Amino acid sequence: MTINSPTLTVMVQAARKAARTLIRDFGEVENLQVSVKGPGDFVSAADLRAEETIREELTRARPGYGFLLEEGGEVKGTDPSHRWIVDPLDGTTNFLHGIPMFAINIALERSGEIVAGLTYNPITDEMFLAEKGKGAFVNDRRLRVAVRRDLTQAVVCTGIPHIGQKDHLRFSKQLADMMPRVAGIRRSGSAALDMAFVAAGRFDAYWEYNLNAWDLAAGVILVREAGGYLSDMNNGSEILGKGSVLATNDVLHRPLYDALTKAGKA
Ligand code: IPD
Ligand code: CA
Ligand code: CA
Repeated sequence: MTINSPTLTVMVQAARKAARTLIRDFGEVENLQVSVKGPGDFVSAADLRAEETIREELTRARPGYGFLLEEGGEVKGTDPSHRWIVDPLDGTTNFLHGIPMFAINIALERSGEIVAGLTYNPITDEMFLAEKGKGAFVNDRRLRVAVRRDLTQAVVCTGIPHIGQKDHLRFSKQLADMMPRVAGIRRSGSAALDMAFVAAGRFDAYWEYNLNAWDLAAGVILVREAGGYLSDMNNGSEILGKGSVLATNDVLHRPLYDALTKAGKA
């Protein structure tokens, strides 16, 4: 079973086309010409090529829609109510190190609300899809968030602030507090896959700060349609605006939120 939707069909076609060049470039990762955008944040030729392909494909199918692109920024469309939010390569550091954990992330925003999301790992060929009111899927399998109610059994994922980012101390305090409470902590290097894995019930929870809308937009609808519970790290609903997230199920959200905010302030 999967979702039969013209919107998702367009998104899947764009992602698959971009994935073909990403796979080729991943194979030749050492020969890639890279420029350094900031410490730990590389922009590769592959990244730019993938974004261009996605933009071309989406524009061909939906000419009036605008864009929020990681590399290209905001592009206004003639249709003010629709906007694609795109990260052509989430997990750039993994990609450049030959670690096969990265994803193409595409979401559709309609009048300020995310109504469709796609997260695609070209290496594992896992295509995570969700559309508002229609559920979340990986390939043909329906997704549900994990139902674990006990933190001691939970595998929790996070993002570690790297060089050039802030909040290293807050993160260290939160990590120190969390380690003895949970079954395990993971860091994948792709916020997009972290959100998709919460939707799939692989991770019981995920928290991270200092992200951008393109890192999270697809994941917001994936987790929601998989029955999950999300907030920003102020326990509000401005996940994309604030660039922070705690995604989990409705039972673990409160204890995790309380523990993380308390530890972060200590
Ligand atoms: C990054 C990844 C990573 C997260 C970073 C993001 P990029 O995106 O999602 O997991 O911790 O903060 O910037 O740069 O690989 O597209
Ligand atoms: Ca990203
Ligand atoms: Ca990126």
